[in-house]
Parts: sequence; structure tokens; C-alpha cells
Amino acid sequence: MTPDLVNRLTQQMQYEFDRTAPPDGFPKFHDIPVQRFTSDEFWELEQKYLWPRSWVIAGRSEDIPNVGDFFTFDDLGVPILLIRGKDLQVRAFYNTCQHRGAPVVRESSGTSKLLRCQYHSWSYDIDSGQLVSVPDERDFVDLDKTERCLPTISCAVWDNWIFVNQDANAISLAEHIGSIADEMSEFQGQSLRTVAKQSEIVPCNWKVTAEAFLEVYHFRHIHSRNGESLLDNRGATMGLLPNGCSRMVTPFSKTSYTALGMKNWDDYKHVVLPGFTDIETVNDMVRCTSTAFGIFPNLITPVAAYGFPFITFWPIDKQTTRIDWTHYAPIDFDPREGLPANWQARLDNFALIMQEDFWNMAPMQKSLESPAMRGMPINYQERRIWNFHEEVDRLIGIERIPEELRVEQLLAPYIER
Ligand code: FES
Ligand SMILES: [Fe+2]
Repeated sequence: MTPDLVNRLTQQMQYEFDRTAPPDGFPKFHDIPVQRFTSDEFWELEQKYLWPRSWVIAGRSEDIPNVGDFFTFDDLGVPILLIRGKDLQVRAFYNTCQHRGAPVVRESSGTSKLLRCQYHSWSYDIDSGQLVSVPDERDFVDLDKTERCLPTISCAVWDNWIFVNQDANAISLAEHIGSIADEMSEFQGQSLRTVAKQSEIVPCNWKVTAEAFLEVYHFRHIHSRNGESLLDNRGATMGLLPNGCSRMVTPFSKTSYTALGMKNWDDYKHVVLPGFTDIETVNDMVRCTSTAFGIFPNLITPVAAYGFPFITFWPIDKQTTRIDWTHYAPIDFDPREGLPANWQARLDNFALIMQEDFWNMAPMQKSLESPAMRGMPINYQERRIWNFHEEVDRLIGIERIPEELRVEQLLAPYIER
């Protein structure tokens, strides 16, 4: 983050504290139609148009360092494989043999210089996906091998995080995440390593789970400790970014900033957490606030100078979601050999906060499906949620969505460009 951006965000937080109403002219949101979370129709639109056109995280580049290293990725409900080619590029292919549809690789990770299907040994080149050999080829009439390549999927790497997108016509990952790549460069993503991945299945729609991480309006009501909130949501500033992405910076509460020796919420200090490797380049505002980025559709990251999680939301069905949270940090130990006590304590503490969110979400789907639920009024402080829903509609295609299920496109004038 540039000093200019840090200044601007700090001024915006002061503005949020001082205001007595939403800014003049800020639109009144209509209720979000509840059927967006409950109807088969909306679920099917998302399955058909949203997920197959979205950039989603599939893994980390350092997990496949050598030629032929691969891992599979099934979280979109479509078998995909990611492999490092002979030219050291990471590529993604559908893991579906073009003969009779067996998976080309069956292990979740491994190394292979040739992608050979185990059923009848059709073999594909790891760089191009070209079909290079077919046993008993004489027995196929007019088999054109050039027409039977393993289909590729768009794949892009940002600071070692590998993303895939099934839509060949999608905008690039760099364009999708826009300024977030620059703003997060100080976290040195390339030198981070995976500390631990945890998961939980929650019985509600994936958007209910994502929304809980797009606002801090709930924070002091769900996550207080001994009646004290660690954050002051009244000062939260929200950057609505293009393509449904966003940023949120929330000042610490008096309890939190006093504990750090700060005189006021914006008396930022170069706070370093003892016992953890520090990412020295992280600015002091981030160290003394809660700062998070949202990458549409299903990734939220609350960043920190000593490592941080990527939280992702994977729909299983209309009313079931798997939430993963994977911590990345500049570590000097091998997590496969166990975690140091301070890291274990940190992960346990984070899991506790997640449990508070899960406890809150778990009964929500049933409640949303109740005839009592007529619609969701959204406030100014929840505007990242509206921004997110607008992009859901744009990606699906507004005209494909029945009018009564849409959200109005209102926030274009408020998007940072
Ligand atoms: S299904 Fe793969 S070679 Fe037959
Ligand atoms: Fe929460």
C-alpha cells in the first residue's frame, strides 16, 4: 500500500466515525430477494454461469516446483489437474481422458512426465495436452489425434497463488483482482508458505457464508470477549473495487489499541508479534487495524504482518457450503513435522472466531426458507455485500435472472477506479 493510500484510508475511517448518516445521495437499497439463497432457479443460474466463469484459487505454486509435478483440484465440482510443464509453466487441464472419460490422473498429487490415462494408456503431453499416443491406434477408424487433446483451462499465478477459470473468454486474473495485487505486494506472497489448512461444512448457502466476512456490523455482537469488542465497526471503511472485489479496513477498539500502547485508533505503530516471523514490509496501518481484501467470488483474506488466512467458500449444494481457511506465513519450520506451540495457539484462536461465525450461520438457511423471511434490508455499512451481489448478477448475465430475483445495479458511482 502506498503512503497515499494509507492516508486516504485513515481519512476515510475518520469520516466514517464522524458521519451521522450515509453520505448524501447514497442509494437506498431494496431488499435482497431471499430466493437468491433458497431457490433451485438461482442455484442453477450460478452453477451454469457464475462458477464456470469465475477465477478461483486452486493451490500454491511451490507445491509443484518441478517439471511434471501435479495436483488435482475438484472444488468446482469438475475434475481439474494442475501440472508444471517442461517449460516450467503451470497449466491447468480438465482431468478427463478424451477416450472414455476416465480421470487421467487418479492420485491427488504426484509427478509425471507424460499424462497417461490408466484405463487404456492414452497419453497426453504435459505442456500442450496433445494426445501423443494411443495403443492399438489401427483399430480406430479415422481417429484424428489432434482433435482429442486434453482440454485446457485458463490458469494464472499471482504471488505463487494459482487461480483457474474455466471460461477462456474471461478477463485476465490480473485485471480481475486489479489494485489488490499492488496493495498486497507488501505481504511478499511469493515467499510465504502454507502453515495449515482447516475446513468446516456449514449447512447454508455459500453466499450466506461469504457475506459474514464482508461486513463487521456483526463483529461486536458475535465476537466480543468479556463484553469487549476488539474492533470498532463504526469506523470501518470499505473500498468497493471493480468486478465485485473489495477492501475493508476497520479501526481497533479502544481496548485493543490501548493494549498496543496506541493513544488513539490512528496512532499506528510498527507492532511486531513476538515469536512470529515478521513480514517487515507490511505498513503500520495494517499492523494496527483489521484489514481484509475480498476477491470475487469466494475468497476473503484478513491480512496481517505475521501471516494470514485465505478463507474460501465452496458450494456443495444450494444449502451446504464447505469453508476452508488456509494460513500462509513466512515460516522457518516444516508444518508436516508439527506446528510450534505459538502457531498452534494462534490457529486455535482463529478457529474459535470461525466457530462463532459457523454457530451463527448454521441455522440461517432454515430461517431464510421460512415464510417469515420476506427480504433482506442492507445498510450502508453492509455495502460490500451489495457490491458482491451486483457482480453475481453481472456474471450470470442480468437478463438471464428473473426480475424479481435481481439486485439493482446501483454502486457503479462508488467503485474505486
Ligand atoms: S478412458 Fe482413458 S485411455 Fe481409455
Ligand atoms: Fe464474524
